[in-house]
Amino acid sequence: MSESAVKRPSGRGRFVTFEGGEGTGKSTQIKKLADRLKAARMRILVTREPGGSPGAEIMRHLLLSGMGKLLGPEAETLLFAAARDDHVRTVIEPALNQGAWVLCDRFADSTRAYQGSLGQVPAGLINAMQRVTIGDLKPDLTIILDLPVEIGLGRAVTRRGSATPDRFEGEQLAFHQGLREAYRKIAADEPARCVLIDANSDADTVAGRVWNAVRERLLPTPASVISA
Ligand code: TYD
Repeated sequence: MSESAVKRPSGRGRFVTFEGGEGTGKSTQIKKLADRLKAARMRILVTREPGGSPGAEIMRHLLLSGMGKLLGPEAETLLFAAARDDHVRTVIEPALNQGAWVLCDRFADSTRAYQGSLGQVPAGLINAMQRVTIGDLKPDLTIILDLPVEIGLGRAVTRRGSATPDRFEGEQLAFHQGLREAYRKIAADEPARCVLIDANSDADTVAGRVWNAVRERLLPTPASVISA
């Protein structure tokens, strides 16, 4: 049993975040995992960032419209942090404390990858904001979906149809390549928390890989509980 599981107050839920570039299939995979966990009679809350609470959804609208970009990288990062602060306090923490599993589409690693690695916002500022917004709250597991950027962007274009690309979809190919590298680095730097999953397969195959990661990391078998 992992150290974080040993320290967890009994009855507290599990916090699983999904990360990855554009079109990697996060929302499809979250839904599939939620359905599987619900079938096992677990209490599940699916949420997303930016957004997930009424206040943070207002900030989501500002951010994805490109308003935040006009203010510059640091201020845009502060808006993401403000949205996260509200979401953590009003939605994520209460749900975990009530014993629910929280499945979140993007979380703090998105800030590290998009604003830190690519927006070149200094790590010191990102770390300081993280201390304020999430404190000690760390995902129990982060699933990072990995896909060649051409395929992900192709899927995002199909999904969008004739709508205008949002703030980040509109960035150049090099941005998305850098994003993929940033996520791969996060996975390599934090193997105890993160699992890099090959998302270049059909949705059910990827869902099987996600389920294996969840089972291995968060649903210990009776044998591993006895040996802990
Ligand atoms: P969304 O439409 O939810 O995109 P996706 O389906 O790719 O998750 O838009 C969220 C966008 O916001 C996405 O492009 C990533 C970006 N983002 C950041 O730049 N920093 C952050 O901290 C978060 C949470 C998201």
